[in-house]
Amino acid sequence: MHTDAVKPMRVKRAQTLLGEVAMPGDKSISHRALLLGALASGETVISGLLEAFDIMASAQALRELGATIERDGKNWRVIGRGTSGLRQPDKALDFGNSGTAVRLMMGVLAGHDLSARLIGDSSLSSRPMGRVLTPLMQMGLEITGENHDVLPLDLRGSNDLVPIQYELPVASAQVKSAIMFAALQAPGQTTIIEPKPTRDHSERMMRHFGASIGVEPFGPAGRKITVAGQAELQGCNVIVPGDPSSAAFVVAAALIVPGSDLIVRNVLINPTRTGFYETLIEMGGDIVFENKRDAAGEPVADIHVRHSPLSGVVVPPERAPSMIDEYPCLAVLAAYATGQTRMEGLEELRVKESDRLAATKAGLDAAGVRSRIEGDVLIVEGCGSGEVRGGGIVATNMDHRIAMAFLTLGLGSSQPMQVDDVSIIDTSFPGFLPMMEAFGVRYEEPDRQGGVS
Ligand code: S3P
Repeated sequence: MHTDAVKPMRVKRAQTLLGEVAMPGDKSISHRALLLGALASGETVISGLLEAFDIMASAQALRELGATIERDGKNWRVIGRGTSGLRQPDKALDFGNSGTAVRLMMGVLAGHDLSARLIGDSSLSSRPMGRVLTPLMQMGLEITGENHDVLPLDLRGSNDLVPIQYELPVASAQVKSAIMFAALQAPGQTTIIEPKPTRDHSERMMRHFGASIGVEPFGPAGRKITVAGQAELQGCNVIVPGDPSSAAFVVAAALIVPGSDLIVRNVLINPTRTGFYETLIEMGGDIVFENKRDAAGEPVADIHVRHSPLSGVVVPPERAPSMIDEYPCLAVLAAYATGQTRMEGLEELRVKESDRLAATKAGLDAAGVRSRIEGDVLIVEGCGSGEVRGGGIVATNMDHRIAMAFLTLGLGSSQPMQVDDVSIIDTSFPGFLPMMEAFGVRYEEPDRQGGVS
């Protein structure tokens, strides 16, 4: 959980970044590995699990529900309780800052005959939950408290779920996955239509644990996913690859700082997650996926990135689900590009850890970069490589990605850049600051008067 005191930080223009670095485990895959391990029979051994606040929230909630989850040397070991085998928790389940943890857990709880109170921090408590509850209530989940869309929520699951057919009204892997977790515990077959494809880690990992999951094309770009119910999941070994959403900041740093040449090792390159990299290549970024390989059903590569002049592009709305967490970072790179970058179809950014559309624009304003929001489109007027002013203070609003994005902007700006809180970074990327420091980046804690202590 995010309990640290707020910690402001300032960063100065960096010297050339050279060398190689490995990324911490993918956040989405880490949550799913713990949840499926807890629903499986027997032991699951997870290597590369992300040890960040968000994942520890999933782990702690599963422990409250009776699963055994412990670190075992470099790995994590989960002793599952079998499908629908979790037990009544003694206290409220606290999901901290993590939308993925709470939403996926709702799908798990739906199939259990138990009551639970779900709570989170102030950021999580302002995010919409109705999008997940609507299909789960059709399956048999009950809301027993007053709130129907926001935490705290009081829920009662059922060991008598019904399978459904559901078309996702929003492109959300969290909603899709919550239904899939419930569907594993329902009788018969549940069908989910996603008009726009979203990350497919649940599909891949449920199969890895022995579930029967069908995936077919649907319409021009969508997919139809079928889940065979009353699945008997078997504990197994899971390898969590490095997180491409975390690697985004390191890749961005190398693109921004002249002369940089970095290899970012062991990064997930699942095509439902690589929209950011595709966009950077279109902008002229020198990015190569080397040493492509498979890690327990997910494609992985080393990303070789060299500093490059970038040009503005139009990022189409259909690409949004494959890079939804990377827009703040892309907006920062757009500031260093020549010409305009137009990012379309960003309505989902309004309901992330903060209103990321507004927070990204506010950060660009603080850095002296011209941008505007037109409906769900963000337009950034590039300043050109080496021409970004910087110098402002950015409000992170309990949003780890806003913090990392604007610290990255400061690596090339003429004036130092400051963010109001870096403690929140541990939500997804513990070790981000020391890792960048190892490349020679200098962070300074400003004193209360605004000077550097
Ligand atoms: C996630 C899905 C995305 C993403 C989040 C992780 C997941 O959310 O923003 O960080 O693991 O399924 P939505 O699916 O709600 O867009």
